[in-house]
Amino acid sequence: MPWSWYADPDVLRLEGERIFARAWQYVGHTGQIAEDGSFFASTAGQIPVVVTRAREGELHAFLNVCRHRGHVVASGQGKQAALQCPYHAWTYDLDGRLRAAPRSDREPGFDAEELGLSEIHLETWGPLVFVNPDLEAPSLTEALGDVPAQLAEIIDIDSLQFRFRAESELETNWKVSCENFLECYHCAVAHPGFSAAVDVSPDAYRLESKGLVSSQFGPLRKNGTPFLAGGEVPRSQFHFLWPNFGLNVFPGHPNLSCGPIFPLGPERTGRFLDYFFAPDIEQDWVDELIAFDEQVGREDRALVEGVQRGVRSGLLPEGHLLSESEQLVAHFQRLCAEALAS
Ligand code: FES
Ligand SMILES: [Fe+2]
Repeated sequence: MPWSWYADPDVLRLEGERIFARAWQYVGHTGQIAEDGSFFASTAGQIPVVVTRAREGELHAFLNVCRHRGHVVASGQGKQAALQCPYHAWTYDLDGRLRAAPRSDREPGFDAEELGLSEIHLETWGPLVFVNPDLEAPSLTEALGDVPAQLAEIIDIDSLQFRFRAESELETNWKVSCENFLECYHCAVAHPGFSAAVDVSPDAYRLESKGLVSSQFGPLRKNGTPFLAGGEVPRSQFHFLWPNFGLNVFPGHPNLSCGPIFPLGPERTGRFLDYFFAPDIEQDWVDELIAFDEQVGREDRALVEGVQRGVRSGLLPEGHLLSESEQLVAHFQRLCAEALAS
């Protein structure tokens, strides 16, 4: 893709319409809506969304945009009888219905039925909650393809519990950050700790792409990193669901971390990463894994921010991808270009 697409506000606007308004995106986990009457606010690309568990226990996702004048309705997470917009106090039930709008009784023909929150698609996979603003889109199951079956070979996703969320902002375009996730060509150069644990050599480290999914399989090095060896999970898997969802399982005890990579602006990216573990895993091991992963994250931050400073210079039209080692980056770029052209 042309490097100009990595800094251009017009491209970001188009990505909003043609990518993020039509794709499955991770927004949070079922632990955030465990009780009837609970909700959490999140984002799908730059689209504000709110997920609720209404009184009868059913899950919903809505555009988190007030039908009155467009203020974002809910923020954070919690348990509440209703969601009230902070601007003029229009109040919505957790099933989306407009319950009250001050002074609406003085409005002839005011039809509250028509002014509920706009519902979007929601599906869960284990404890993971995804939404898709496009009501016509194929199901999440279809989008995930073989990933659930591949993951089931090393871990039982339903047995995992949320432990920790890491949030970050990066001075880069969201696509730079996704592409960084999609290759391990840089691992030997930039991630000494990770490369000591996982065999990142081209003959050992496997890359696969199919449909909307890209996967990376790295075997654990013998005598590598002691805390990752000897658990129930024998090897790592790293999956990416286009456009912006990354999922990691490291060897060791049952663990999974995942989250979205979303635009905050043409050259600014937000991320959060939710960590899940089997319920009985000791906090020391959890802390060790998170510290290991955060070190990789610091190394990647320097890389993606360095790429942004280079590509934004505007003097070179594009880069050059390696057809083997960077095949998943090429796959990502093809999907983006197709979506933008559609
Ligand atoms: S914008 Fe929400 S009540 Fe006015
Ligand atoms: Fe990296």
